[in-house]
Amino acid sequence: MSREEELFAGGVAVITGAGAGIGMGLARRCGEIGMTVIVTDIDAERARSVADAIVAAGGKAEALRLDVGDPAALDALAADVFARHGAVRLLVNNAGIETIGLTWEVPVARWEQTLRVNVNGVVHGVRAFVPHMLKAGAPAWIANLSSVGGFSQMPTQTAYIMSKHAIQSFSECLYLEMELAGAPIHVSSVIPGMLKTSIFDAAAGVGEPAAAARHRATMAHMMASYGMELDEGCRKIVAKIAAGEFWVDTQEEMTRDIVAGRVTFLQERGVPTLADQARALLQD
Ligand SMILES: NC(=O)c1ccc[n+]([C@@H]2O[C@H](COP(=O)([O-])OP(=O)(O)OC[C@H]3O[C@@H](n4cnc5c(N)ncnc54)[C@H](O)[C@@H]3O)[C@@H](O)[C@H]2O)c1
Repeated sequence: MSREEELFAGGVAVITGAGAGIGMGLARRCGEIGMTVIVTDIDAERARSVADAIVAAGGKAEALRLDVGDPAALDALAADVFARHGAVRLLVNNAGIETIGLTWEVPVARWEQTLRVNVNGVVHGVRAFVPHMLKAGAPAWIANLSSVGGFSQMPTQTAYIMSKHAIQSFSECLYLEMELAGAPIHVSSVIPGMLKTSIFDAAAGVGEPAAAARHRATMAHMMASYGMELDEGCRKIVAKIAAGEFWVDTQEEMTRDIVAGRVTFLQERGVPTLADQARALLQD
């Protein structure tokens, strides 16, 4: 029996943004190892089809519509799941969106939505669930979706990149808060390199500046060509969370290179510098 089955089988997992991409992959993996999976997404139909597929494969799952940008909805979800299913063993704050464009060309509503989902959605997920977890007193795991982008600089993905820097530091502080509080709650920062999902396609048609479309299409193509397969990445993520690792990365060499670049930048007090490959992408 794997470590994740030993720890997680029979427990309840709540995953946000689980109607597609990484959230869907994590939901499937959690179902496979015997968890009851609460599949939440802003798109109720997608959540339902993921939950149905888990059940059809012999697992336990329930679909719920949830907009992580609504703190009260997260409070209601936490109260409802604890009341109906008992203690939540694993919470994955996964929902996130991409946004591309020069800072001053991205519409106000898209800026606000990016920060609401990518930053506030994670913060309020934690704020809503932790009191119930503490009250239950059982060991629990919280995994927040950062990114290798949480250590890098990428102009025209500014809203997204700054949101991932925020979540990386949020998870670091949260880890220490659990230690200070003596809480039996493990915190992990999930740092995907590149997994095959439709996050770039989902950013189309939402007030995107015209000049951003080519960048987004190139990123989508790179992801489809070189990204890690979703199920492989998600198996790895669940295994590392169960192993109690704080750094839950999928492509370790990529994480090492990007973090090393960040360390050098900070130590040398460098100026932000665009890698040649990124410059070609942005200036072609
Ligand atoms: N795919 C990658 O390579 C990669 C790399 C680094 C980090 N990430 C992070 O992983 C997470 C998932 O990304 P993905 O690539 O699977 O994206 P995706 O677009 O494939 O899936 C995101 C899901 O979140 C849902 N969603 C969007 N807004 C929501 C909201 N307000 N409330 C609830 N659900 C909402 C969407 O409906 C969708 O089902 C994100 O936080 C992303 O930043 C992904």
